[in-house]
Amino acid sequence: MEIIRVKDAQAGGEKAFELIKAGMDKGIQTLGLATGSTPIPLYRQMTGSDLDFSNMTSINLDEYVGLGVEDEQSYRHFMNDNLFDQKPFKETFVPNGKAENLEAECQRYDAIIDAHPVDIQILGIGRNGHIGFNEPGADLNGTTAVVNLTESTIEANKRFFDKVEDVPTKAISMGIASIMKGKQIILMAFGEDKAEAIYGMVKGPVTNHVPASALQNHDDVIVIVDDAAAAKL
Ligand code: F6R
Repeated sequence: MEIIRVKDAQAGGEKAFELIKAGMDKGIQTLGLATGSTPIPLYRQMTGSDLDFSNMTSINLDEYVGLGVEDEQSYRHFMNDNLFDQKPFKETFVPNGKAENLEAECQRYDAIIDAHPVDIQILGIGRNGHIGFNEPGADLNGTTAVVNLTESTIEANKRFFDKVEDVPTKAISMGIASIMKGKQIILMAFGEDKAEAIYGMVKGPVTNHVPASALQNHDDVIVIVDDAAAAKL
């Protein structure tokens, strides 16, 4: 793993943007994207740039079960709002959290991932070391699946909802094996809340107790961190 230390989240977003721009100059076609607070500075760089994404495809990591584009807290809504409405892509994929048959939706999503190999996968990391919604205990060889969110993730994500009871308890998430298919992975983490997870990911053993530690087995991972997130390294 290559570790790049930056001053703050803004500088981290700028760095990730440079890497995406360099990739696009070389002709990459597909970005794997994440939601949450972490990639917002990157998406601001993208929307504020003159880069043209209209030939690009994007594949998002996850979506809450039961939420759709009309729900402000859905990840599809987040992506449209923070990126796609301002910078149209050729195609954008987010799991359908309202699919009637969730198992079939997971299979459909894996077929999408196989048809559109991800060139650069953007990731954040949960305080408990999750990537996507692959929580501690996840199968490191898993593909897209319906997953139960842990208490700590529900607690961390309640800030986007009126009350904690409104946070969905399940999500559809790309699995660790699906994420590992990305040719290059850029994981960003900012703030002291992420220090323990970053330590486990970089220095700890590869274990499903810290799902992000699986990235040690990928040969092109760039970790962009501020000093607070890197404090335990
Ligand atoms: C989001 C996702 C999650 C987040 C993680 C960090 O699509 O898959 O793994 O990256 O929960 O969230 P933030 O960035 O809000 O701290």
